[in-house]
Amino acid sequence: MELLSNQPMYQTVPEKYIFPPEKRVVNDIILHSVNFPVIDLRGGRVDAEGWCEIIGEIMKAGKEFGFFQVINHGIPEKTISDMLQVCDEFFKMPVEEKAQYYSNDLSKPFLLNSSTTYDKSETRYWRDYLRLVCYPIEEVIDSWPEKPENFRAVLSEYTLQVRELSSKLLKLIAEGLGLDKDYFGGDFSTGKTQMNINHYPPCPDPSLTMGLLPHCDRHLITLLAQGTVSGLQARYMEGWINVEPIPNAFVINFGHQLEIITNGLLKSVEHRAVTNSAIARTSIATLIIPKTDCLIAPAKELLNENNPPKYKEFIFSEFIKAYSAASASREDVLEFFKLN
Ligand code: OGA
Ligand code: NI
Repeated sequence: MELLSNQPMYQTVPEKYIFPPEKRVVNDIILHSVNFPVIDLRGGRVDAEGWCEIIGEIMKAGKEFGFFQVINHGIPEKTISDMLQVCDEFFKMPVEEKAQYYSNDLSKPFLLNSSTTYDKSETRYWRDYLRLVCYPIEEVIDSWPEKPENFRAVLSEYTLQVRELSSKLLKLIAEGLGLDKDYFGGDFSTGKTQMNINHYPPCPDPSLTMGLLPHCDRHLITLLAQGTVSGLQARYMEGWINVEPIPNAFVINFGHQLEIITNGLLKSVEHRAVTNSAIARTSIATLIIPKTDCLIAPAKELLNENNPPKYKEFIFSEFIKAYSAASASREDVLEFFKLN
């Protein structure tokens, strides 16, 4: 078992974590002056047509960035801080305690792993992570660790709250698209909800390593809590935007399925995680996933002669297969499902 979080701090980066120069971040353009959208969910005046301001902001952000942050979203601060804390405590536990969860078997409902990679390169990510199914809670809770002591209770509460926020957002998005507000409420969002709890220990030379290489998320929508340490970057035009942490905010981004259902209107945008030399970073990504046998296709309500379907129909499980085969490359994976 190999875990970055239990190594004594490396003085130099071991060879297997060093990316070739073209995959490193040093020469990339970081767009410091672009205003990344932050949406206050408590705001939202409703105008004479019944159109809520928040919906307009979400649609604008979704079309331009595929990403936004939400504040005043209704999830108590304590739910978020307890969750981040219990995750940090998990990674700080001694190796012997964690070893029982370490696995390469992705079919497990709870697993700990380290330094895997999405693409075909052999270079390892500077990241330990937990990958777990968090919903339906009663089906999976027995697979969650009993230590730290309050792990199960905190994760249950966090799961309920985040799923509720995801429903709220999906309703707003459906309304913004002119669809029934429950459009995404069925099979599109009721597959097993997954969490990636990412832990990026300090790295002696962040210019050589990556926490996560650029990728798009494969499912419907992601809600990310990233604590107070920056590291997430989102692709924007020819460069990257640092998604600066806002205390207690959630970063929301669209997965491939939402892009396809909206026939390309809402973008699934590439993002990555960079490392830093000063401080460990923990992020919690909650992934809202369609049912395995869910039929995915551009929503008929959105199509017309000026907006013909860009993607063919498929079953969600076919997408997952193609995503793995294409090693998460955005262009390659969409190529499987595009109509010309
Ligand atoms: C992910 C992801 C980003 C981060 O887990 O899919 O993109 O900031 N995480 O850790
Ligand atoms: Ni991601």
